[in-house]
Amino acid sequence: METITLRRLQPSEWAAEAQLIALSTNAWYQASGKPAIFTGNLQDCEVFCQVYEGLDPGCCIVMEEIPTGKLVGSCFYHPRPTHISVGIVNTHPDYFGHGIARRMLDEVIGIAESEKKPLRLVSSAMNLDSYSLYTRAGFVPRMLFQDMLLADTSRLPAPDPRIRPVTAADIPTLVALEKTKSGIDREHDYAYFCKNALGIWSGSVWQESGVIGGFLFAVAYPASNLLGPGFAKTEEIAAALLAAERRKHPANPVFLVPAHCEKLIQTVYRWGARNCELHVAQIRGAWQEPEGVVFPTFLPE
Ligand SMILES: CC(C)(COP(=O)(O)OP(=O)(O)OC[C@H]1O[C@@H](n2cnc3c(N)ncnc32)[C@H](O)[C@@H]1OP(=O)(O)O)[C@@H](O)C(=O)NCCC(=O)NCCS
Repeated sequence: METITLRRLQPSEWAAEAQLIALSTNAWYQASGKPAIFTGNLQDCEVFCQVYEGLDPGCCIVMEEIPTGKLVGSCFYHPRPTHISVGIVNTHPDYFGHGIARRMLDEVIGIAESEKKPLRLVSSAMNLDSYSLYTRAGFVPRMLFQDMLLADTSRLPAPDPRIRPVTAADIPTLVALEKTKSGIDREHDYAYFCKNALGIWSGSVWQESGVIGGFLFAVAYPASNLLGPGFAKTEEIAAALLAAERRKHPANPVFLVPAHCEKLIQTVYRWGARNCELHVAQIRGAWQEPEGVVFPTFLPE
């Protein structure tokens, strides 16, 4: 009889983990009548292991089928000073609905409770399985985001002279800005992006009279082509940052815009952007409503 055990992902298992992420995600989308998400080389999904294990070594919970040794579930998490983020969660399609994800999530909940920290994640509002998994486990949907694509950049505004590339020297200011306005500290993530060991990150800051009003990072890789994370004090600054990073990335990256940011949403519609999905920020525990525009991402959440 098969049994399932819970343990941590080993460095030798990145190829198997990449297969699990691609297989699980594609199977879920196709079973839901949607096209597969990962259509190129499935091993490109190893980027999730490279980034997540590079950021937080040893923070990937996996479920192993005994005696086959097959990975049937994985859940990355990211401990930060103010909270713990939950990264990508996957169950092997043979085990959908068997409590695999819930067991992994309970492990992360135990860690968060022992450290007295809230848990945060961004989940698809179009995936009732993950939405239900998280809300049953005590997460509360706090913000709605529109995932958008801008295929044609011809209607972007002229470059804003107040925008420049982000540098490592900016990090303390970015961290202080986000901590004050959103209550979270992601210094570790921003230092990792600026170091850019994989050569896949970029970032912009908006600055006027020496004061930074916002920033936006981006990742360009076949399995993950996204603008974010970032934060802006106003919707105007957010629009300028989106335009700058979108202009830099020809491969049509997806970006998430808070659905309540009415002016920003109308601005990106005027540029020609189209909605492709909806996501919700879900928090288990204390939450501070952000004062400004939040750009979430999935790599890392
Ligand atoms: C989403 C996903 C991780 C769920 O994994 P899973 O192992 O099948 O989920 P589980 O069986 O552990 O748990 C599902 C939970 O949701 C509950 N649930 C499912 N549908 C529900 C519904 N419509 N209403 C209420 N609860 C529901 C189940 O009862 C269970 O909760 P419980 O353990 O408290 O009873 C899996 O479908 C998957 O890997 N999908 C593809 C990748 C993905 O979308 N990942 C999530 C975002 S990163």
